[in-house]
Amino acid sequence: MKGKNIIVGISGGIAAYKTPQFVRLLKKRGANVRVALTEGGSRFVSELSLATVSGEPVYRSIFPATDTRNTDFTSHISLGEWADAFVIAPATAHTLAKLAAGLCDDMLSTCFITLRPNKPVLIFPAMDGQMFLSPSVQRNIKTLADQGCHIINPESGELASGQCGLGRMPEPESILTALEYALQTTSQRSVLEGKLVVITAGPTREKIDGVRFISNYSSGKMGFALARAAVQRGANVTLITGPVHLATPAGIERIDVESAAEMHAAARSFFVDCDIFIGAAAVADYRPALSFDGKMKKDAEEMTITLIKNPDIIADFGKQKKHRQLAVGFALETESGLGFAQQKLIDKNLDLIAFNIFNRKTSGFEVDTNVLTLIARDGFTIELPLLTKDDAAGKLLDAIEKLLPQKQL
Ligand code: PMT
Repeated sequence: MKGKNIIVGISGGIAAYKTPQFVRLLKKRGANVRVALTEGGSRFVSELSLATVSGEPVYRSIFPATDTRNTDFTSHISLGEWADAFVIAPATAHTLAKLAAGLCDDMLSTCFITLRPNKPVLIFPAMDGQMFLSPSVQRNIKTLADQGCHIINPESGELASGQCGLGRMPEPESILTALEYALQTTSQRSVLEGKLVVITAGPTREKIDGVRFISNYSSGKMGFALARAAVQRGANVTLITGPVHLATPAGIERIDVESAAEMHAAARSFFVDCDIFIGAAAVADYRPALSFDGKMKKDAEEMTITLIKNPDIIADFGKQKKHRQLAVGFALETESGLGFAQQKLIDKNLDLIAFNIFNRKTSGFEVDTNVLTLIARDGFTIELPLLTKDDAAGKLLDAIEKLLPQKQL
């Protein structure tokens, strides 16, 4: 914690009264602390207390005070650049909604946008239990988690309303422990830092006519989890995705495509420069030989659609890649498909393949969990247990981190 620059964002909930104590704990550990206080937050805790314990002026508005001699219009940017971590505690339903929507009307919400992408953001929602469980709050929390924020759920206990239930902000000591852990895991320098990682994600759509297409059930969750994990390790990430309903993780260049041909064209432009190419997309193997712009009529009793093979994107990269570049594929197969995955590793000239066991309820398409077996070119195999897609992405990147230095010697 010593020497770390921490922004503490405080919004308007009763739990804000605990925040001077949290700031004191940080200062005692040797951290530099700057506080971003919302208008609501200032109703529960005084600016003077926070300025005193942090030893810094408190940040409120993005505009300088009425003193026209103060021309510092860019402190929202410099504060975001300064921080090693951002802790938002308490985070009210209103603040969560603003952060999820990307609104920037005060220092807290603006710093959230200007923070450097690989810096941890820890969000501690605290509110009435029913508010916390409301679909709107849960949707916003999910959006922020998908962007890579660490969401620490509130604790159960006595609430300001007098009722007992979920909604209490954890004590300052617990917030500190969570922050220390997040800083520790992100401060171990990764070999991925500064590397260009290109990831394909989601399904492709192959047009039959103006209103119909051939596709599959890929949700993009696995590819997006990889993108989040890679950016957290300091990589420059380009995510080429088919049509999915997922928020773009912070700090990522996202390219939206529809068909395999479009995904191929987008991917090819990175073949020369990328360090690592990860194919998590479920690319349609075939597309209709002919497609129509309008809606086809259903006059005929039978219809035959001739399909032709799509380009194999990762195999194309495998053919062209230089020694320093790493190609990582996925292979979704049933339980007995390990041999098929190994064959794909050879045929597509990959360095690593994730054999993805398909189980409708727990692994593969759409679900939030996955079961992967990682197979390296030299046959080294790691069988991973059932994990969340975020954790599975972390394990896959751990394996890539081990392989990359050998390639880039
Ligand atoms: O998106 P989710 O719902 O989270 O689901 C994740 C996933 C199941 C889609 C993902 O984990 C996965 O397994 N993706 C690969 C799906 C698959 O079986 O691909 P494949 O066996 O057809 O292809 C093998 C490899 O070649 C893959 O890396 C694929 O991206 C790539 N490929 C395939 C065909 C093609 N034309 N171009 C390619 O690049």
